[in-house]
Amino acid sequence: MTKTALVCGAGGFIGGHLVKRLKREGFWVRGVDLKFPPFAETEADDFVIGDLRDQQFCRQIADRRFDEVYQLAADMGGAGYIFTGEHDADVMHNSATINLNMLDVCQKRNVRGMFYSSSACMYPEHNQKDPNNPNCAEDSAYPAAPDSEYGWEKLFSERLYLAYNRNHAMRNRVARYHNIFGPEGTWDGGKEKAPAAVCRKVAQATSGGEIEIWGDGTQTRSFLYIDECLEGTIRLTRSDFEGPVNVGSEEMVTINQLVDIVADIAGKKLHKKHIPGPLGVRGRNSDNRLIGQKLGWKPSAPLRSGLEKTYEWIERQVRRNSTRAAAA
Ligand code: NAD
Ligand code: GDD
Repeated sequence: MTKTALVCGAGGFIGGHLVKRLKREGFWVRGVDLKFPPFAETEADDFVIGDLRDQQFCRQIADRRFDEVYQLAADMGGAGYIFTGEHDADVMHNSATINLNMLDVCQKRNVRGMFYSSSACMYPEHNQKDPNNPNCAEDSAYPAAPDSEYGWEKLFSERLYLAYNRNHAMRNRVARYHNIFGPEGTWDGGKEKAPAAVCRKVAQATSGGEIEIWGDGTQTRSFLYIDECLEGTIRLTRSDFEGPVNVGSEEMVTINQLVDIVADIAGKKLHKKHIPGPLGVRGRNSDNRLIGQKLGWKPSAPLRSGLEKTYEWIERQVRRNSTRAAAA
């Protein structure tokens, strides 16, 4: 029998790629979102536009049997969106409501289990002050002290999914994603994350010129390419391990190093101008001991290979936009 999947947030970056992956595996897929994917036609068999904050709408989209349910819909963005404080109430209200609704509906419809995408943003700020030695082991989560309301909502919701496992015998799975990047992700407009923002800025710059970077550039992060994010997501969903578990890369770099790699890919010499901006934690890196133990797999692709594909795609978007602007 054909397997079926429901992907909430299928108009977004990770959800859009997940739909393609599930279609390659032969699934019948229903995607749900407020919007269609902005950069490519959806490959979902059925794509329903609607608001997952509306419980009635959630009941409608869960009206059939699904073998797998992925809940990726959230009010989210990069540092320029979640660390300014301007969207805190919306981020918490919107994302928590989606998770409360979808869990209630799926439990009542006897869905076996759901996948939930939490974030590394739920880890305590005090363990991420040293850029060279951040601690993001899964068991370092408590006592909790995330540095953003986005992180607090993720922490609440991951607990909610696990409470449904205990009290309603569901088989929910929780991953903590660490900064996922790749083609067809948001690359401008304010919600883009550092890899996309840096690719855009490098693509727009002329060799010998300068690009603006928020902070002193010595803050550290690791970035996971979309294909490995999907691999981890699917392996966890189909495993006996409920998580929470990190799905991220262990290749930590400074933001200055990120810029240098992208500039090298582009073949441009650029001066970095460090300016004030929303910064988030000083350092963050995935700790992949648990995922390795529990799933017998962990991400391993080098950052540069993912950046090559991402830069190529973003450079094309930048060129296309400037051609359109010139023609207008
Ligand atoms: P995204 O913003 O591209 O996708 C999220 C999608 O959810 C969007 O298309 C949005 O329209 C949709 N959505 C928001 N509110 C909705 C509503 N009320 N009803 C229906 N749809 C709604 O983000 P993404 O990068 O694809 O992230 C997917 C998930 O992974 C999110 O839960 C995010 O918090 C989590 N996550 C992502 C990263 C990352 O680096 N991309 C890191 C950690 C966690
Ligand atoms: N976005 C962005 N744009 N960040 C920049 C820029 C820029 O032009 N220049 C420098 N940075 C710095 C930010 O100040 C921050 O210190 C670092 O690059 C990383 O920024 P982001 O990639 O935007 O976000 P993040 O890593 O702090 O948090 C992201 O990852 C989480 C999971 O690890 C967010 O996308 C969260 O939503 C996500 O959950």
